[in-house]
Amino acid sequence: MQTEKVMIDKVVAGGLGLGRLADGMVVMVPYALPGEEILVRAKRRKKKYMEAELLEVLKPSPHRVEPYCPHFGVCGGCDLQHAEYDYQVELKENILREQLVGAKVIAEAELEKIIERPLSAPQPFGYRQRLRLQVDKNGGYGFFRNLSHDVEEIESCPLAMPEINTVLGKLPTSEAMSHLLGLAREVELLASPGDNSMILIIRLRRKPRPTDAKAAGQAADDLDLVKAVYLAADGEQIQGPYCGSLLASEDEGRSLLLLLPFPAIQNHGIAPYTLGQEAGGFSQVNLQQNERMIETLLDWVEELPAKRGLDLFGGMGNFAIPLAAKLNEVVGLDLQRAAIRSAERNAEIAGLSNCSFIRKSAVDGIKEFGAAGDVFDLVLLDPPRRGCREVVPFLDGVGNPLVIYVSCDPATLARDIKEMAKNGYALKKIILVDMFPQTHHLETMVLLTK
Ligand SMILES: C[S@@+](CC[C@H](N)C(=O)[O-])C[C@H]1O[C@@H](n2cnc3c(N)ncnc32)[C@H](O)[C@@H]1O
Repeated sequence: MQTEKVMIDKVVAGGLGLGRLADGMVVMVPYALPGEEILVRAKRRKKKYMEAELLEVLKPSPHRVEPYCPHFGVCGGCDLQHAEYDYQVELKENILREQLVGAKVIAEAELEKIIERPLSAPQPFGYRQRLRLQVDKNGGYGFFRNLSHDVEEIESCPLAMPEINTVLGKLPTSEAMSHLLGLAREVELLASPGDNSMILIIRLRRKPRPTDAKAAGQAADDLDLVKAVYLAADGEQIQGPYCGSLLASEDEGRSLLLLLPFPAIQNHGIAPYTLGQEAGGFSQVNLQQNERMIETLLDWVEELPAKRGLDLFGGMGNFAIPLAAKLNEVVGLDLQRAAIRSAERNAEIAGLSNCSFIRKSAVDGIKEFGAAGDVFDLVLLDPPRRGCREVVPFLDGVGNPLVIYVSCDPATLARDIKEMAKNGYALKKIILVDMFPQTHHLETMVLLTK
C-alpha cells in the first residue's frame, strides 16, 4: 500500500493518533503524538476511517521520548511509553474531556468548572501489583504482540513491581515450574507486599492432574518469595494453594492471602491497615494510586451528608472498609464468593461492626433493597469495563442517593451518566486518576447528585 505524510491533530481513545490523509479521510495511527508530522502506510479501511502504521516520525513532538522498554512497539501492552509522563496524563485528560463532551454528558464550559486536577502517578514505572502473561506452546511467556496471538517473550516488565520481576526472571530455574509452563496458557504473578511474598496462578490448557498439583507444590518450594501456587483451567474452580513443604491446612488464616498494606489516612483519622484477598479475585493493580483514590473518595464523602452507603461492586472491601470509618453503615455487594469471603474477613480483622457484605449481583441487590424500602444516601459504583447501565433505573428505588462512580472506561462511563441524567442526576465532581501509566487506559472518579 501507498505511504503518505500525515499531521497528527490529537490522540483519541485507545491511544491512537488521529490525522487526515490527503483525500480528507480520517486516519488512526498508533504511537503518534499531536503536532507530529509522520509517514504512514494505510493498513485497513474501516467505515469512517483508515487504520495506518507509523513508518517514520518526520517532525517529532517536543513531548516524544525514547521508550524505556526494549519490547515497546512489539508488545501489545504499553502504547504511550513514547510520550513524557506528564504529557501522557494531559493526553488522557483530553480523551476524557472529549468522551464526555462528545457524548453530550456535559457542556465544555461546565466541565471546566468541575474537573479537578488529575492525580498523576508518583511512580510511572514499577507500579503493577499483578501481572498476567500469556504462555506459548513451548512454555515461553510474555505478552501478546500487537493485534496478534503470538507471544512476545519477556524476562521482566518495567510496569511491574520489582518483586514480580525477581520471580519472573527465575521461573525457568525451577524444573517443576517448567513442567507447568509447558502445559500452561497463562501465568499470573501476584505480589503480596504485606508479607513480601508472591502468589502464582497457572492457567493450564487442560484440567489439572495430581502430577501437576505435585509440581505446583515443588515450584512454590523452588522459587524464593513464592508462598503458594494455584492451578486453574477454563471452566474449572481454581485449585490450591500448593505450597510445597508447607501444609495448606496449617495456613488457613491470612498467610495464604494476598496481603495489601495501606498507610494511615491522616486527614480522616484512619490508622494503617492491611486488607487480605484470596488469589483469583479483583484487586486494583496500582496500589499507590488506589490509596489516592480512597483518599479522594473520603474527601468527597466528608463534604456530603451521607450516612448509609451501598457499595455495589465492592470486591474485597477496598472502598467499603475505609468508608465504614466515615459512615454509619456500609453494605458491600459482589458477584464473587471469594471476594465476599475476603471482605467479611477484612471487616472482622478491622473490628468493624457497621459493614456487611452480600454475594449478589449489583442489579439484583439494588432491586431487592428498593422493593424492601431499604434506603441509602450514597451508592458507590465501581463496575468492570462494561459499565453498569442495568443498575441505573433502580437508583431512585433506594432513595435517590448520591452516586460516586469509579470507572476504568470513559466510553461506558459517559453512556451510564447520560442514562442517569434522564433520571435527573448531574455531574458535580470529576477527577482522572492515572492508574495505568505508559498505557492509554484511564480511571475516572465522578460524583453525581440529583
Ligand atoms: C472493578 S472491580 C472493583 C472492586 C472493588 N471496588 C475494588 O476497588 O477492589 C469490579 C468488581 O465487580 C464485581 N462484579 C462484576 N460484575 C458484577 C455484578 N454484576 N454485580 C456485582 N459485582 C460484580 C467483580 O467481581 C469485581 O470484584
